[in-house]
Amino acid sequence: MILVKLGGSVITDKWQYRTFRPETVARLAQEVSSSGEEVVLVHGAGSYGHVMAKRFELQKGRVRPGQEEGVSKVSLDVRELDLLVLKELVSAGLNAVAISPGSCATLRDGKLAHLDLDRFRAYLEIGVVPVTYGDVTLDVTRSFGICSGDQLITRLAEGLRPKRVIFVTDVDGVFDRDPHLHSDAQLLADIDRSVLDGLPRSERCDDVTGSIYAKIEYMLALSAHTDECTIINGMAPGRLESALRGASTLCSKVRGG
Ligand code: IPE
Repeated sequence: MILVKLGGSVITDKWQYRTFRPETVARLAQEVSSSGEEVVLVHGAGSYGHVMAKRFELQKGRVRPGQEEGVSKVSLDVRELDLLVLKELVSAGLNAVAISPGSCATLRDGKLAHLDLDRFRAYLEIGVVPVTYGDVTLDVTRSFGICSGDQLITRLAEGLRPKRVIFVTDVDGVFDRDPHLHSDAQLLADIDRSVLDGLPRSERCDDVTGSIYAKIEYMLALSAHTDECTIINGMAPGRLESALRGASTLCSKVRGG
């Protein structure tokens, strides 16, 4: 089984509230389908999650009155995004079902405390593709919070031991500087703890779930539970299918331990 995270920057335009990328998602769905591989899919929230979550400060938990409106709004928005993703997956021939973290995951102090992994195992056993996503969930200490796709995929890797984990982003992998801001940024083929520690930390970040560095921390942690963890560019046609098939493709590889 292969775990795939479709990042919010690929499936949505991150800078425009609730802007879906139907052609990109349709192509990625087709690549998953054509690979013939057994997968569990996680997708990010992109502009369906971060914009409102930030406005209502949901990542901090309950800190002020009025946030309930944000809990409801973000829950609705990410569900709508998930439905759009699911429709593309099903159109591509995948038997996909949604597993909403809001209904089967709980946080404690902002960290994933419980996820019903048996639900994922049961769907895999009957040949159905489980699809989950970054969501607003209950938090036992903070009332509510944001459960990111990266938290979910890390727990899924621990529990399901995939042969490979693939992070699909809108750039070729991890660079020594933000490639959107620096045209001469260099792709880093291999990422380990020392490479992460050496990266500059000055880039701006509008995500409620943290910068690329926070994401690499999750990748380092989960790489202990899989043979290979790669970051690829989902905007480049064919890369996801190559990565799923285990063929060599332009990427960064994350090595923990
Ligand atoms: C964010 O999930 C969840 C919400 C803001 C509701 P992710 O952190 O996995 O999403 P992306 O991939 O960065 O968009």
